[in-house]
Amino acid sequence: MKDILVVFGSMTPEHDLSCKSAATILEGIDREKFNPIAVGITKEGKWFYTEASTEDIKSATAWLESPTNKKCMLDTDFGSHRLIVFEDDNTVSFKNVDCVFARIAGNMGEDGKLQGLFEVAGIPYVGCGVMSSACSMDKDISYMFADSIGLRRPQTQVLWKKDFDEKGKGLVEDVKEDLAAKVGFPIFVKPTSTGSSVGISKAHDEEELWKALEVAFSYGDKVVLEENIVGTEIKVGILGNDDPKIGALCELTANGDFNDFDTKYIAHSSTKKIPAELDPETEAMIKDYTIKIYKALDCKGFSRIDHFLTEDGQLVFNEVNSMPGFQPTSVYPVLFDAIGMSYTELITELLELAMENK
Ligand SMILES: Nc1ncnc2c1ncn2[C@@H]1O[C@H](COP(=O)(O)OP(=O)(O)O)[C@@H](O)[C@H]1O
Ligand SMILES: [Mg+2]
Repeated sequence: MKDILVVFGSMTPEHDLSCKSAATILEGIDREKFNPIAVGITKEGKWFYTEASTEDIKSATAWLESPTNKKCMLDTDFGSHRLIVFEDDNTVSFKNVDCVFARIAGNMGEDGKLQGLFEVAGIPYVGCGVMSSACSMDKDISYMFADSIGLRRPQTQVLWKKDFDEKGKGLVEDVKEDLAAKVGFPIFVKPTSTGSSVGISKAHDEEELWKALEVAFSYGDKVVLEENIVGTEIKVGILGNDDPKIGALCELTANGDFNDFDTKYIAHSSTKKIPAELDPETEAMIKDYTIKIYKALDCKGFSRIDHFLTEDGQLVFNEVNSMPGFQPTSVYPVLFDAIGMSYTELITELLELAMENK
């Protein structure tokens, strides 16, 4: 029996989604093989050991009231493999940790920082390592990897908060002379450090561009502007370390202006075709590029890699999600369910891959 630390929450705009995915992992994990221990990180960054119900964890708030909660920290001594729990009587207790599944997306979870902590402690963890997490998270940096394997990606322009503060609307003029002169409007405006479409806008003119910049810079210091790619979205689930396998492919049509936060998590208004209906050559080309970029970034465990497919059959890279949505109904688990791998089997495989990797 292996002791698995399931970590959720954290100081990310995707906190609530993390709680939902982690709760379903606690429900889906094979309890004949694994003994899960739950730790929630609050929005303020405090760590609590908890025995709250999965329903309370899913709510993202109710678990905070659980009387079972105890302050805790990971023992960072290399190889100690334990969680230190602070008991009410001012003593500490220890919980063995064989492997971590920190299902936290966005900054402080998907960007390599938390992965670094697990490396320091010498504890195996599910998913990509420090470098691949950090480079996948930063949309601008991940495009450099696409370039390195000859995979087309949107034309971009990078902007920094310092210039936004100093130049104000003058920055819009810079964009008019640079990216807008090359590709015209609409232009996508994205913080480089978020996921789940948080802080992303599609600007159709200069006025919307200015508003989009104000939103994007409220999330971080680096913003990437992108050419609008017209095509369907293809989402590819990939699983493995050195010899990764691919699940079914998903073809997504947003139906609205784009696949924004509301479309993804509130209205659920996009149309998904799983498996995608593609000709075998196109499908093979997509799988080939997906494996190439996974390897170029040195990804481990899993990722959901998204592309656009244009009407004339060109593949354009969108992003690597190194910590994909992981509720049983999220795209990634559904892609593997479609090839006969249940949610529980998927969790087992990810934990085994993590322990094999270390
Ligand atoms: N360059 C682009 N051209 C067309 N649509 C885009 C482009 N970039 C993003 N989108 C749309 O916005 C959505 C969110 O952008 P994405 O880069 O995937 O960010 P996130 O990491 O938040 O998921 C995509 O699913 C797609 O619908
Ligand atoms: Mg995306």
